Amino acid sequence: MYIKINLDYNSLEPYIDNKTLMLHYNVIYSGYIDKLNKLLKKNNYKDNYSLNELVDKIDMFPLEDRGEILYNLGGVLNHKLYFYEISDKGNNIPYGEILKDINKYFGSYDNFKKEFIKKSLNLVGSGYTFLVMDKTGKLQIINTSNEDTPYSYGFIPIIVLDLWEHSYYLKYTTNKEAYINNWFNLIDFKKINDLYIENKKSLF
Ligand SMILES: [Fe+2]
Repeated sequence: MYIKINLDYNSLEPYIDNKTLMLHYNVIYSGYIDKLNKLLKKNNYKDNYSLNELVDKIDMFPLEDRGEILYNLGGVLNHKLYFYEISDKGNNIPYGEILKDINKYFGSYDNFKKEFIKKSLNLVGSGYTFLVMDKTGKLQIINTSNEDTPYSYGFIPIIVLDLWEHSYYLKYTTNKEAYINNWFNLIDFKKINDLYIENKKSLF
């Protein structure tokens, strides 16, 4: 379940600093994984659902643990995607299937970027901005609070931006907008396009 990050902690400099990346990955993300594993063990979980399937199966757990399981499950799913999609490979120019559909639903990549930034600046409190796909394949930009995962609302997450203070505060303090703009330099459209094609196949 633990996705080993395939880059060194300096490689996202200057956009995301070494210390932030290390704490975010080794403390925050791995903390969610540990807590989720403990909760699943406590409940004697033996099934083999994928993490996103587990969101739909949350009712199988006793009511008293459900909230905590869902919270940590969301924490794992959201961070797993966030870390998967940022890299130092310089693949931040969209192409292929994902670009085709961004153009279809948002007019152009520039317009998508503008809408994504606007949405992320409107998030109140801790949470995320996502590009998601609904069950008909339509793309839209949504915000979720705390560790809510789009799977809980019937969406498949495609692109995620972590907007919790732990993802930027050490470097950017209150300048969230600079972090958001700089994050666009790190998103890896090779990985996003691959994931998008795979998710689209699961729908049609
Ligand atoms: Fe985070």
